[in-house]
Amino acid sequence: MVSSESLTILKIGGSVITDKKADDGVVRVNEIRRIAQEISGFKGKLIIVHGAGSFGHPQAKRFSLNEQFNATGSIITHLSVKELCGMVVGILNENGICAVGVHPMCCMLADNGRIKTMFLDHIYCMLEKSIIPVLHGDVVMDNSLGTSVISGDQIVPYLAKQMKAGLLGIGSATAGVLDDKGSTIPVITPKNFENVKKHIRGSENTDVTGGMLGKVQEMLELSDSTYITSHIFDASKPGNIGRFLKGEKIGTVITHEQYECRS
Ligand SMILES: Nc1ncnc2c1ncn2[C@@H]1O[C@H](COP(=O)(O)OP(=O)(O)OP(=O)(O)O)[C@@H](O)[C@H]1O
Ligand SMILES: [Mg+2]
Repeated sequence: MVSSESLTILKIGGSVITDKKADDGVVRVNEIRRIAQEISGFKGKLIIVHGAGSFGHPQAKRFSLNEQFNATGSIITHLSVKELCGMVVGILNENGICAVGVHPMCCMLADNGRIKTMFLDHIYCMLEKSIIPVLHGDVVMDNSLGTSVISGDQIVPYLAKQMKAGLLGIGSATAGVLDDKGSTIPVITPKNFENVKKHIRGSENTDVTGGMLGKVQEMLELSDSTYITSHIFDASKPGNIGRFLKGEKIGTVITHEQYECRS
């Protein structure tokens, strides 16, 4: 696999590593093992952000965390995603990948549901020493709301902007962003977004942070303010994470107006 000094950020969706239809945490250990094997040859600087799936979304919904502050519910939700992160990190290490969990609750502050500040110095040090930081969607303290649910889909562009990532991938369980016929939309830019938006919805499962529409909006905003391009692709298809890490263009590209579509 190609070694790269530029930073790669990979989000692995909760719909890939958990059974998202479940009411309470059901992990897909074999999927995490497969993903670990696909990542194991990568030599560049890599940050992993994983989604919550059935560890987090059902709990956040049960305690209405998007509507009201609830200390107990916030902690229960945080502990659930932390448990999933522990399993992901454990399997990565079993497969020879030096990885450590970085829980947003412990190093991030939000304001009105958006990330306000995050301590990043330790993440830079980890990358220098070839340790892969593994972050995840989490409940974090919020200046205005008490706590807020911060999606992995918000963490990825925040890190990409702050740390100037070169390669950005959002792995979920569909072949990118799909149109009404189920075909992958190759490129989304601010120009065609209004037109394709009618095909993009939330999640068919419990998801308190906007599902596919939330992802596309976060990535469009990023490309608008930084010109950083991202790829939404099917991480449940064996081989795709490896292909993404090699720089192959798969799934849907989210980018700015100047991007030229080359097949
Ligand atoms: N146009 C679309 N193309 C693809 N998926 C879509 C579309 N519109 C809605 N969706 C839904 O969005 C889901 C993906 O978003 P979701 O947030 O559930 O996934 P995830 O990121 O893998 O999970 P998590 O948020 O737990 O990390 C798809 O599984 C599908 O149900
Ligand atoms: Mg989601």
